[in-house]
Amino acid sequence: MKTSIEPFKIKTVEEIPITTREERDIYIKEAFYNTFYLKSDTVTIDLLTDSGTTAMSSKQWAHMLDGDEAYAGSRSFFKFESILREITGFKHIIPTHQGRAAERILFSVISKPGCIIPNNTHFDTTRGNVEFSGATAIDLPTEIGTKPEIPGDFKGNMNIPALRKLIETYGKENIPLCFITITNNTGGGQPVSMENIRETKKLLNEYGIPLFLDCCRFAENAYFIKMREEGYQDKTIQEIAQEMFSYADGCTMSAKKDGLANTGGFIGTNDDALAELLKVNLIVTEGFPTYGGLARRDLEALAIGFREVLNYNYLAYRVGQVKYLGDLLLSAGVPILVPTGGHAVYLDGARFAPHIPRHQFPGQSIACEIYRVGGIRVVEIGSVMFGKTDESGKFIPAAMELVRLAIPRRVYTKSHIDYVAEAVIEVYQNREKLKGMRLTYEAPLLRHFTAKFEYV
Ligand code: F0G
Repeated sequence: MKTSIEPFKIKTVEEIPITTREERDIYIKEAFYNTFYLKSDTVTIDLLTDSGTTAMSSKQWAHMLDGDEAYAGSRSFFKFESILREITGFKHIIPTHQGRAAERILFSVISKPGCIIPNNTHFDTTRGNVEFSGATAIDLPTEIGTKPEIPGDFKGNMNIPALRKLIETYGKENIPLCFITITNNTGGGQPVSMENIRETKKLLNEYGIPLFLDCCRFAENAYFIKMREEGYQDKTIQEIAQEMFSYADGCTMSAKKDGLANTGGFIGTNDDALAELLKVNLIVTEGFPTYGGLARRDLEALAIGFREVLNYNYLAYRVGQVKYLGDLLLSAGVPILVPTGGHAVYLDGARFAPHIPRHQFPGQSIACEIYRVGGIRVVEIGSVMFGKTDESGKFIPAAMELVRLAIPRRVYTKSHIDYVAEAVIEVYQNREKLKGMRLTYEAPLLRHFTAKFEYV
């Protein structure tokens, strides 16, 4: 059969709001032209994030009822720990309520002012937690990784020569660990190759620096390795994931992505002394180490989710759905980051609206217009999120002006995707009408969440 189908049938449905264009003009204005302020009751298709927005399976819901809500020693925790030990091989599995809690605990234990943390590309909360500890977060993408228009198999790779130079410049004693984010979310959801993970580890070994994976989308990364990297075609997703983790000394994960559940996270490590310090911090801030701020029923949902996510048919559908949207847009000439990654389509705002200068946030303007046209919520990942103004008042733009259409897992059907494509194509065809924006309010850290805008 040539037609690809959703590898599930629908058992429970949720009505989605249908609004008029006039209503949406009001809603986006009331939201200060920031999609984070939109009430979800006014959103028809929500592509703000793929995080915690997964539809759970009937098996996950069934197991949740059987959750053991004991404060200490819950059997639900041991199920969660067991599957994660099987996949990652890490001795210590420390649950947290979401990914950034894992990051906060890790960086408050291992990092201090003066430290340098390298990463292929930090996610915004990871960068935020590094900076909050007083350390400096440095992104080391490969050259092709910041070129949206150039295709490549593993555009998420770490720039290994640049990493060596960084270590030589700052000294290994100032680098408590190095991160690789799989897939590389802010770089376009692009995968990292097994070879790149292995070679990064080899380099770090020369200096005795531990390697951690930010592994929110590890199964999607493993799928790309199976499809694109020589020698992995006949391996299962689980075997590939196990090999990826075998090169790492630890990981942090937001399980709201490839855990296929609505909340959760964890830290994995083999280091007994580090695990002790992390657990003390965990107890003070999140909860006892057998629940880490989660209801135990959530651990049940995750224990099942981590098995379901390793299913090849699920991943082929998942990555295929993202590609399907990307192909519809490409065939209408819409500039997107190519190839499409694991969890989202990224519009290339700089080519989409070249008449808007980058300090007037072309991506933000596109995001607002997509909402106006289709009631679709997307997010800017460009100079609103990562742009800066230096001491002299000079604007420093982000590496790329992207607009992310993140696809929640198992939530939307092919006709929803067709609808999204139609709206984005309409915005693109009328692109010369898009206007630049300016900030009327920004918070000192992670400003994109709460920023307010007006049209220039
Ligand atoms: N690391 C990466 C690569 C992420 O994509 C995220 C979250 C986090 C860490 C933090 O995890 O949200 O559970 O605290 N990404 C979401 C997104 C929010 O929309 O991409 P969290």
